[in-house]
Amino acid sequence: MRNNQSKHDAKRNGDSKHPAKSNGSTLWLPGRGNANSSNQPVLITGGAGFIGTNLAHRFLCRKQPVLLYDNLSRPGVEENLAWLRKKYGDLIQIEVADVRDAARLSAAVKRSSKIFHFAAQVAVTTSLVDPIQDFEVNARGTLNLLEAIRGMDTPPPLIYTSTNKVYGDLEDVKLQVRDGRYEPEDAHLRQHGFSEQRPVNFHSPYGCSKGAACQYVLDYARTFHIPAVVFRMSCIYGWHQFGNEDQGWVAHFLLRALENQPITIFGDGRQVRDILFAEDLVNAFLHAMEKINSLSGQAFNIGGGPANTISLLELVDIISEIKGEKPAVQFDDWRTADQQYYVSDTRKFSAATGWKPLTSAREGVKSVYEWLKANRTSDPGRIARVGSLATKDNGHSPVNGVCSKTNGRRRVAKVVCSSNGNGSKRAEPKLAKVI
Ligand SMILES: NC(=O)c1ccc[n+]([C@@H]2O[C@H](COP(=O)([O-])OP(=O)(O)OC[C@H]3O[C@@H](n4cnc5c(N)ncnc54)[C@H](O)[C@@H]3O)[C@@H](O)[C@H]2O)c1
Repeated sequence: MRNNQSKHDAKRNGDSKHPAKSNGSTLWLPGRGNANSSNQPVLITGGAGFIGTNLAHRFLCRKQPVLLYDNLSRPGVEENLAWLRKKYGDLIQIEVADVRDAARLSAAVKRSSKIFHFAAQVAVTTSLVDPIQDFEVNARGTLNLLEAIRGMDTPPPLIYTSTNKVYGDLEDVKLQVRDGRYEPEDAHLRQHGFSEQRPVNFHSPYGCSKGAACQYVLDYARTFHIPAVVFRMSCIYGWHQFGNEDQGWVAHFLLRALENQPITIFGDGRQVRDILFAEDLVNAFLHAMEKINSLSGQAFNIGGGPANTISLLELVDIISEIKGEKPAVQFDDWRTADQQYYVSDTRKFSAATGWKPLTSAREGVKSVYEWLKANRTSDPGRIARVGSLATKDNGHSPVNGVCSKTNGRRRVAKVVCSSNGNGSKRAEPKLAKVI
């Protein structure tokens, strides 16, 4: 059921089509239950990115100032920033800076009432090309943030977005194919998904750097009493996401279909994920902030859960229905550390906060399709520019596909280089042994 306050606020802000749903009317009392109820901004690192933009929008439309700290390294995020700037003007502060710059990050932390730490190198593929950069941004950048928080008399509360990749590729889980998709043989796992009891098993440099950061956050909560919560997130999708082959597959598939370009599926397409609509994630963030004192020091698996699972092939089918024609699909090798089945067991978080996802996978996918249709730029070079996660500062190759030969199991990562969108090739084609 749509929340009336959300609808009202969406209208008031000239955004009547915004899909906000909320199942808790208390979520919109800025400062309630939080460390600081002054007018200090909410700091969102990586705030120009997909999730950051959705969260910023929710705060800003309630007149809560935000400070976005982002180095704009992800191609395309300037568009999100321009949209927020145009919509909210002075309510938004922007610091174009890097989380590896400890001094600037610390200055931003000191100005903030609460912190959401999203800035990251976000793709497994890119982490295979440059593990050091991946480590420095994800692990060291998070440690910089934690140290800045630790230095404060009254540390602001922190929410950190980790990933299901900390559980590894889950190779030990016995799977079967039913109705054209993978599912666990174990009935309990099928019914509920993976809980936080699952042992962590960092896989891929991205898994290691995000996992290390996740453990640091949990330990700073324990050792230094910083109020902090970790979300181990499955696949998030929604408005303001310009997904590409490296990250953001739901939006990427939709964009490819809209551009009448073939979709490449790595593996056989029977992989299953639970997908979570960004508005539902934003609700979860707000629930977590509201209860930060009782939740601090804990990690929660967050995703669409068993009710919102989808295989890659099923997404193609949904796109066919929405678009009225089947998009072209091609197949390539499995990618390193890809999980054949991952579904979050979100019961721990739901029991603690009352949160649950409100948007079904089908409804959400349709909504993102319509949003992308209306908002993707007609600039023909854009798809090429955002078609990979090449960052602007690392000088490394855009990676088109980091795959691995399988004969059942993954072994060797193949790095394929592609044009950087300016016509030139920055490349290091090589085989990287990853496990
Ligand atoms: N989207 C998902 O499905 C998903 C799933 C699991 C975890 N996560 C995590 O959620 C967070 C947000 O993801 P997203 O999907 O919004 O990604 P995104 O790429 O859209 O946003 C990340 C933002 O961080 C910025 N950034 C990158 N390196 C930076 C640096 N060194 N300093 C400052 N800013 C930097 C980028 O410019 C970008 O705007 C990330 O930490 C990601 O690992 C996302």
